[in-house]
Amino acid sequence: MLLLYSHLYIVFICWVDIQTGAALESSSKPPIYRNKDISISPEDKEVVNGQEEKAFSLVDQLDPEKSSPGIWNSDSNVITPSDEKKGDPINVPKEESRDIRVPEGKSSSKKAEDVDLVVAAPISSVNKSSPLEGKEYKNSTISAGNQACNYAIGKWVEDDRRPLYSGFECKQWLSPMWACRLTQRTDFAYEKFQWQPKNCKMDEFTGSNFLRRMQDKTLAFIGDSLGRQQFQSLMCMITGGKESPDVTSVGWKYGLVKARGALRPDGWAYWFPGTNTTILYYWSASLCDLEPLNSTNPTTDYAMHLDRPPAFLRRFLNKFDVLVLNTGHHWNRGKLKANRWVMHVGGVPNTDSKIAEIGGAKNLTIHSIVKWVDSQLPKYPSLKAFYRTISPRHFFNGDWNTGGSCDNTTPLSDGKEVLKDESLDPVAVAAVKGTRVKLLDITASSQLRDEGHISRYSIRATPGMQDCLHWCLPGIPDMWNEILFAQL
Ligand SMILES: *[C@@H]1O[C@H](CO)[C@@H](O)[C@H](O)[C@H]1NC(C)=O
Ligand SMILES: *[C@@H]1O[C@H](CO)[C@@H](O)[C@H](O)[C@H]1NC(C)=O
Ligand SMILES: *[C@@H]1O[C@H](CO)[C@@H](O)[C@H](O)[C@H]1NC(C)=O
Ligand SMILES: *[C@@H]1O[C@H](CO)[C@@H](O)[C@H](O)[C@H]1NC(C)=O
Ligand SMILES: *[C@@H]1O[C@H](CO)[C@@H](O)[C@H](O)[C@H]1NC(C)=O
Repeated sequence: MLLLYSHLYIVFICWVDIQTGAALESSSKPPIYRNKDISISPEDKEVVNGQEEKAFSLVDQLDPEKSSPGIWNSDSNVITPSDEKKGDPINVPKEESRDIRVPEGKSSSKKAEDVDLVVAAPISSVNKSSPLEGKEYKNSTISAGNQACNYAIGKWVEDDRRPLYSGFECKQWLSPMWACRLTQRTDFAYEKFQWQPKNCKMDEFTGSNFLRRMQDKTLAFIGDSLGRQQFQSLMCMITGGKESPDVTSVGWKYGLVKARGALRPDGWAYWFPGTNTTILYYWSASLCDLEPLNSTNPTTDYAMHLDRPPAFLRRFLNKFDVLVLNTGHHWNRGKLKANRWVMHVGGVPNTDSKIAEIGGAKNLTIHSIVKWVDSQLPKYPSLKAFYRTISPRHFFNGDWNTGGSCDNTTPLSDGKEVLKDESLDPVAVAAVKGTRVKLLDITASSQLRDEGHISRYSIRATPGMQDCLHWCLPGIPDMWNEILFAQL
């Protein structure tokens, strides 16, 4: 009956004019980038999806994917700029991922514009029965039920059936840096909770239920490392963390292959042959298109087209049945500067001072991508698009670089319930309003789980630095997938 849906759910994308697609396809071939000025430290290795990849020590310090401070460092970061690829992802040689050396960050004093999670003044709740949605949902009892409830409201309850997979297992999908069972951490109470929405019926998540529901379908996560966490979590949840030799890597179908010299591919795609289900993740930290300004210059600046969705999304949207978008933690001045991203709007450098502020740029991008996805839904009536709200950080007594920590080990010491019908991510709420893109609102519920972060146990964390942004897996992102499943 899900097939009856005629509307799309979308999470979050840059707005792009219809004509942009054609313009992009005709743009010049991307340059080759190499990690040439980054030293390799042989002991820095990471096993990703069964493949050992050499990691670069400098990258390790900066790269959000490397369990190092980079990702929650609000002044510096590394992003593999892959969105600018224009060529055929299968036949055209890809540029290698380019990791960028970042200058020593300034202090974290510019908080006002760099905060990743802004808990803004209360906003009115999303109207779940807008005329548009009412029409779209009329013929589906399931979706009508979903619309009547808000998955963001509810409580955490202890549940012996959690976690849904073991952090010792799931080596096929789970990055060791996020598998807290593999670290010195000894408290695992945080694994034992399930989210119970107040007014929504949730089917029990099982791998077979999920796959049955996703028969002949493709689910795509597009976003930053928190999106990658959700992707890995889902792969582990579906397989129960068990070795699954039948699940086939099909990244090549989407151009997701590791280029020579690259640290990793821009994403991963896996196919479950039993149900012909594909799950994929594509790395796009900013959810907008990145285009080298001088394609023959390896140290070129990038046009960061705030109002244009990533090329990958534009190219492959027609292949997706479910789309989950997210962004958030890469939006600060330091990261933009470090990545040499220059804001563009309408194809030209931005001159609007309101947009030039980080908050304004992020807002424009989120609104743009949601609007664009919404505009595509009539073409792809079976697509369900979600925008996932911001994942909260929990640095106490400092920030990531000033001794901030998340040492609490007692689950839910700050309460277990979310009662307010207003999201903690007003930007996302405003962006999806009036569109058929659905909000996957995980912010308030995750906000209660400060004990679930990697904390000090990150495998290669710099002593003194804690990761209070990413989550241990199994853990809180599993819940994001449970409420996603409930809405499919
Ligand atoms: C929600 O939309 C319905 C239908 O358009 C309208 O009757 C109702 O007043 C709206 N509620 C809010 C809180 O805006
Ligand atoms: C929705 O249901 C009504 C009444 O059952 C039917 O007339 C209409 O064609 C259906 N619309 C769609 C899009 O299936
Ligand atoms: C397998 O699933 C894809 C979508 O993920 C679909 O396009 C294709 O038609 C399916 N193949 C079969 C044989 O049903
Ligand atoms: C592009 O970069 C190359 C190599 O650095 C340089 O020679 C060329 O002048 C640049 N082109 C423009 C238009 O700036
Ligand atoms: C966010 O962007 C939208 C669309 O451009 C705009 O209407 C809205 O006013 C912006 N909100 C803020 C807080 O800047």
